[in-house]
Amino acid sequence: MPADYDPRHLAHRRAPLDLLSPLREAAPIVHNPTIGGWMLLRFDDVQEALRDPRLSNARIQSYAAHLRQRGEDPGPIADSLAHWMVFNDPPRQMELRLMVAKTFGVRSMARLKASIEEIVQRLIDRLEPAGKADLIADFAVPLPTLVIARLLGIPEVDAPLLKRWSDEIALFVATSLEVADRRQRAEQAVLAMRAYLHDQAASRAIDTDGTLIGTILRAELDGHPVTASEAADIALSIVFAGHETTTHLLGNGVRQLLSHPDAWQRLVAQELSPEDAVEECLRFEGPVNAVARVVREPHERFGALLRPGERVFLMLGAANRDPRRFDDPDIFNPDRRDHRHLAFGFGTHFCLGALLARLEATTALAALATRLPNLRLLADEPDWLDSLVLRGMRSLPVTF
Ligand code: HEM
Repeated sequence: MPADYDPRHLAHRRAPLDLLSPLREAAPIVHNPTIGGWMLLRFDDVQEALRDPRLSNARIQSYAAHLRQRGEDPGPIADSLAHWMVFNDPPRQMELRLMVAKTFGVRSMARLKASIEEIVQRLIDRLEPAGKADLIADFAVPLPTLVIARLLGIPEVDAPLLKRWSDEIALFVATSLEVADRRQRAEQAVLAMRAYLHDQAASRAIDTDGTLIGTILRAELDGHPVTASEAADIALSIVFAGHETTTHLLGNGVRQLLSHPDAWQRLVAQELSPEDAVEECLRFEGPVNAVARVVREPHERFGALLRPGERVFLMLGAANRDPRRFDDPDIFNPDRRDHRHLAFGFGTHFCLGALLARLEATTALAALATRLPNLRLLADEPDWLDSLVLRGMRSLPVTF
């Protein structure tokens, strides 16, 4: 059996598929004591598990119950995450999702398109004169931050605050590293964001008309109007979901395209569409490596007994490289016509922001290719995140 996958190891972080692909080929289900759960890695199995009601997303509720059993107060972070649709099962998840779904639909995206274009051009204007940049810090981080601020309806100058809170929460939700005070930092971020949105709404500094925060504040939950703290938690879940994911789609995507100069040149020459490029970037090295579930009902899978409370990791990155599903899966080929990958998940939790993420990424790639056609990578080996959930880099130095 191949070695245990552990994202805290530098080698595993650099090339996770060097471990995950042999694991996927060795057995349909693998128990990994290091990450504390089962792993499913084959495309069909992951897809099927994503719509299996015996596997639950209500992980925070069981975490909070576990803390209560030990006599501990779950605190504001568990309280906040319990309002996130991604940590709930239907029907609660659907109730939360329907509240905001229209904001992420085709019509809203058509309205947002010009704003995204304007933000992308402005970011390129800012970095262009230097002739070099960190594509993550100077472009891939501010883009989704500014877009989400626009979507929510908060002043642009406050956008970096959203990003800071989102990062603090990510320490708790997405990282593998043991940061000593990560729970406290995430809790403070939740409290700070609640207070911020509360003040903004109260002082009417937020333009609530036609904005996401306005939509949430006008909705009902459990038969009462949504409270300011519930609204903040729901908004927070979207801020969080839309930030790092988009950043790392842009970072990983640009890195792949520049590592395949032929693909980049075709993008520059407009022989390759940004849409096709983005889909292959999502499949080949999407930003979400894994999603987690908790076993709700005992059941057997490929001879293994899965017990209630056990964790199951659905390895999206490995599934998107399954040779049973894609021809030559380890070849980066933006000419593929089959875009049915699992980078945005599948089933009831399918990414609510998929249209937005695609719009941001295609707009960004088209603009980069037009305005910085000589874009080149500077460093050989990037500094990869240590996350089990996210695949991405801390920085991406480039010249142009
Ligand atoms: C490339 C960028 C993105 C990727 C790869 C991505 C991926 C995913 C995946 C895999 C899930 C499913 C999680 C699960 O099954 O447990 C998900 C859910 C979700 N995503 Fe995204 N996402 C991206 C961008 C965004 C953006 C821009 C937003 C919004 C601003 C967003 C909002 C959400 C929300 C709210 C959910 C939860 C949906 C639910 O539980 O019903 N995502 N995303």
